[in-house]
Amino acid sequence: MEETICLLVFLCFSPISAGDGIAHNCSEYVNEGLGVDCQCIDRAPVGDTRAYQVTWPGHSNTSRLKLSAVSRNDNGSTFVCLAERPGSIENTTFTLQVACELCTRV
Ligand SMILES: *[C@@H]1O[C@H](CO)[C@@H](O)[C@H](O)[C@H]1NC(C)=O
Ligand SMILES: *[C@@H]1O[C@H](CO)[C@@H](O)[C@H](O)[C@H]1NC(C)=O
Ligand SMILES: *[C@@H]1O[C@H](CO)[C@@H](O)[C@H](O)[C@H]1NC(C)=O
Ligand SMILES: *[C@@H]1O[C@H](CO)[C@@H](O)[C@H](O)[C@H]1NC(C)=O
Repeated sequence: MEETICLLVFLCFSPISAGDGIAHNCSEYVNEGLGVDCQCIDRAPVGDTRAYQVTWPGHSNTSRLKLSAVSRNDNGSTFVCLAERPGSIENTTFTLQVACELCTRV
């Protein structure tokens, strides 16, 4: 019986310290003229079924960030992704770096 209780306690607490967090899979470097289409992923702890919402405020109301043709003026722009759950808000930042491989050399 005691072993069963320990196991339950472990299952309750380990995800909170280990599994929380959000990440994005946006490419760090994007060639000028190309677009960005990526996703912000909420690494919710296994078994956490609380309702949550992942957005890119000002850019997208969903977990998907879609930008059309970036220009060198967008270089260094930062995009914040928010994951909101009851009682917690987490964020992760994506900094766009515009590469110029396809630009006409001066
Ligand atoms: C990011 O992840 C999403 C969902 O898994 C996938 O559809 C998309 O193609 C990925 N994008 C990139 C740039 O890897
Ligand atoms: C997000 O939703 C709000 C309210 O529904 C809307 O006003 C806004 O235009 C939407 N933004 C985007 C980027 O879709
Ligand atoms: C964008 O910024 C990075 C770092 O500041 C710089 O190395 C790169 O040359 C810049 N790209 C363009 C297209 O200006
Ligand atoms: C992102 O999270 C950090 C650390 O919790 C916080 O200091 C910052 O204000 C947050 N930024 C936004 C835009 O919510």
